Formats: sequence, structure tokens, C-alpha cells
Amino acid sequence: MRRRLLLSYLTITVLVLVGLEVPLGFSFARSEHRRLEESVQQDAVTLAVRSEESLETPPEAGGPAELQALLARYEHVSDDRVVIVDAAGRLVASSEPRGEPTRDRDELGPPEIARALGGHQSAGSRYSPELGGDVWFSAVPIESGSIILGAVRVTHPLAPVENRIRDNWLLLALIGGSVLAVVSLVSLLVARSVTRPLADLSRTAARLGGGALDARAPLPTGPAEVRLLAQEFNTTAARLEELVGAQRTFVADASHQLRTPLAALRLRLENLETEVDASATDDVDGARAEVERLTRLVDGLLALARAERGAAAPTDVDVAAVVAGRRDAWLAFAAERDVELEARVEPGLWARARPEHLEQVLDNLLNNALDVAPSGSTVTLTAARRRDRVEIRVLDAGPGMTAEERARAFDRFWRSPGSPSDNGGFGLGLAIVRQLLNADGGTIQLQSPPSGGLEAVIELRAGRPVPGARPPSPASTPAQT
Ligand SMILES: Nc1ncnc2c1ncn2[C@@H]1O[C@H](COP(=O)(O)OP(=O)(O)O)[C@@H](O)[C@H]1O
Ligand SMILES: [Mg+2]
Repeated sequence: MRRRLLLSYLTITVLVLVGLEVPLGFSFARSEHRRLEESVQQDAVTLAVRSEESLETPPEAGGPAELQALLARYEHVSDDRVVIVDAAGRLVASSEPRGEPTRDRDELGPPEIARALGGHQSAGSRYSPELGGDVWFSAVPIESGSIILGAVRVTHPLAPVENRIRDNWLLLALIGGSVLAVVSLVSLLVARSVTRPLADLSRTAARLGGGALDARAPLPTGPAEVRLLAQEFNTTAARLEELVGAQRTFVADASHQLRTPLAALRLRLENLETEVDASATDDVDGARAEVERLTRLVDGLLALARAERGAAAPTDVDVAAVVAGRRDAWLAFAAERDVELEARVEPGLWARARPEHLEQVLDNLLNNALDVAPSGSTVTLTAARRRDRVEIRVLDAGPGMTAEERARAFDRFWRSPGSPSDNGGFGLGLAIVRQLLNADGGTIQLQSPPSGGLEAVIELRAGRPVPGARPPSPASTPAQT
């Protein structure tokens, strides 16, 4: 957009400059030439009239001397070169502005002198070997009535005129160049004042789309339309933040409110168990199991709502310590299913995250992996540095997922059609995982490795080592959602 604006300004400027300057330059050149031609012509005619009488005077009476004196006076006021010949074409007088001796030679030969002696005026330009350049000449007959007494030819060098014309072209080019430079600068500023706020706006829109609901566009000082757009955008973003915030608050509050009656319900069921007879025990057990499920669902919803609200800021987390802690926490659960739990972490690996987020993420992924891992298989946890990111992978040897399922897996309440209904899942685990990672500036992807199974790939920003950081307690029980 900026380039296009610049290009259009510059094209218009160049067109205007060419349209103005080229005719100006040519008209200057023409007028300079005409002025020279007219002045040379006028000088020739004047000299012809004034030398008429002297030419009629015989040499003994001082005619040629008079002419030479006339030319000497003329030389003072002009750098023209004048040649006067008599009717026979013999040189009578000549001016030599450059001090060369007057020579009686081919001067009489040129065709313009012959034409003048024939009674015709002529003018034109030709190369003069004496001046080493082009000259403009004008030759006129000297007449007395109808008798031709001789001819005058005036020549003037063209070089000064050509120099003036060239200087004029240079001046025009200089003016054009300066105008173009000023226009470039101004149009760059104008284009920037339009495109910068738009770029800001698109960056803010991208941030908002990425989940940063508090992102607002800076109000530009540029064009009113762009400012209005930014204002409208901010209003929309504020409204969106409000709506989403209200919804999250509702979910969090509702989940929280549900926990108390659920706890009471469980307590009552436990009491009931001791009081009912054997035939009803199964029903009470079933009811208790349902209450447990419901409690986990409410806990999951609460976790999701909390993750979306994102409280404290991410810190530097010792990845090896967290991974080791989560592995230890899940070892017993894995052993129960006869599954190996292996962890390989690059030494000295630190990530930017909230430690409790990373723990919950790993818990959910390990829970999923152990749910599907066939007995005798291995679930592998690896972590490594990738440039300015930290990559953590959880690989299982289960049935894996199709591309379609992987695309839907992060939706809330989505569970694959074949997944068992008895493992307590609600389809919230991966939604929570993604929300927690996004809150910390991380990402997650599900991949199908060629070896089969499913591989969850987490990426977090790399962190800086914190000396003497307290490792998370390895004994904390795994959270299940
Ligand atoms: N490691 C895995 N292998 C195969 N399927 C998986 C794996 N992890 C998750 N899934 C599928 O994705 C669905 C959604 O997972 P999740 O969001 O954790 O919900 P839940 O575990 O509560 O069912 C699961 O129901 C399961 O079908
Ligand atoms: Mg799960």
C-alpha cells in the first residue's frame, strides 16, 4: 500500500515535470537561437547600409580605410566577425576579434558571399575551422539603388548560445530533481501516516484474534478515517472482552457454586451406605460414582475458567524438575496398567510458563496417553531446546487419532466416538491443556508418528536458568480431568 501510494505520487510528479520542463527548455533554446539570428542579421544590414558610401569612395580617397575604421569601432561593441568584399569579391575590410591577421583567402569563396553579390541575403550555420566550432552567419549585399557595390558577411560563434541552452537544461533538471526529492519525502510521510496506523491496527487485530482480549489499537494522529476505524475497533474489542469475561465469570461462579452441594451430596450418600440394606448397596455405590464424576466435571470446568482468566504471569520453569515430578506422580498409575513411563530431558532446560500450568498440562497428556497405552508398551516424555523455544513431547503406543479427530480434539466436550465412557473423561482435558499453554505463550499440536500411536508436541518460550530454584514437589498427586 505504501509503495503504491508513493508510486502514484511520483508518477504524477514526473508527468507534470516533464510536461512543464521539456516545452520550457525547447522554447528557451528556440528563443536564444532566434535572438542570435536576428542580431547577426540586423548587424549585417546596418553595416551594409553604413559601408555603402565608403565603398563608393575610391581607395585613393580613403574608402577602405574608412571601412576598416568602421569595423574597428564595431569590434568594440561586438564579438562578431565581419568581412566586407567589393563587387568583384575582393576583401576590402575585415575584423579579427581574436587578433589573427586578416588574410585574403577563401573568405571570398564561400557560397553565401557569392549569393550576396548576386543580390540575395542568406543566413545559416556552418562549421568554422578558425573558431573550432559552429558559427551563425548572415550575408547581405551592399547596394546603391540597383547597383551591387559589394557584400557584408557577419559571423557569430554558436558556442556561447549552446552553452547557455545547456546550462538552462541543467537548471531545469536540477529543479526537477529537487521537486522530485521533496515530493518523495512528503509522499513518504503522508503514506506512512496512513499505513502505520493500519499496520498497528492489523497487529492488534491479530493479537485479539490470538486470545489477548485486552489488546487495543493505539489511536493514531493520522487521517480521521483511520482514527475512526481504530476507535471502532477498540470499542468492539472492549465489548468482546466484556462479553467473554462475563461468560467466563459465569462458568467459574457456577462451577464453584456447584462444588458445595456436590460435597454435601457425597457426604449424605456415604452416610446412607451404612444405613441401607444389601439390596440397595449397588445403587448407592452407583450414585456415589456418579457424584464423583460430576465433581470431576465441575473441577474441570473450574480449571478451564481459571486458565482462561490467566492470573499470575509466567516465570522461568525448570523443565527437567517438572517432568521428573509428573513422571513420579504417574508411575504407580502406569505400573497398574503394566506400562513403562520413560522421561528424557535435555539438561539445563528452562521454559517460560506458570509451573502449575505446565504440571496440569503434563498431567492431562499423561492421563490420555496412559488411558490408551496397551499393556507392555512405553509412554515416552522428551524435552529439548529448539532455538528460542522448548519442545516437550508425550508419545504413546495407543491407537492414535485420524487427522479429522486431531483437528477436533481440542474442542470442549469432544471425545472420539470409540473412546470408553467409563474412564471418567468429559472431553475437557485437551481444551484445558490448550488454554493453559496459550495463557503462557505456548502451543500444542497432536501428531501421528510413523511408528503409530499419538504424539502430543508442546512448545513454550525458552526461559533463563534461575539459580537455586525450588523444584516442584514430586509427590503431588496427579490431577485427573
Ligand atoms: N493419546 C491419545 N490417543 C488416542 N486418542 C486420544 C489421546 N488423547 C486424547 N484422545 C482422544 O481425544 C479425546 C479428547 O481428549 P480429552 O480432551 O483429554 O478428553 P477426555 O480425556 O476427557 O476424553 C479423548 O476422548 C480421546 O478420544
Ligand atoms: Mg483426557
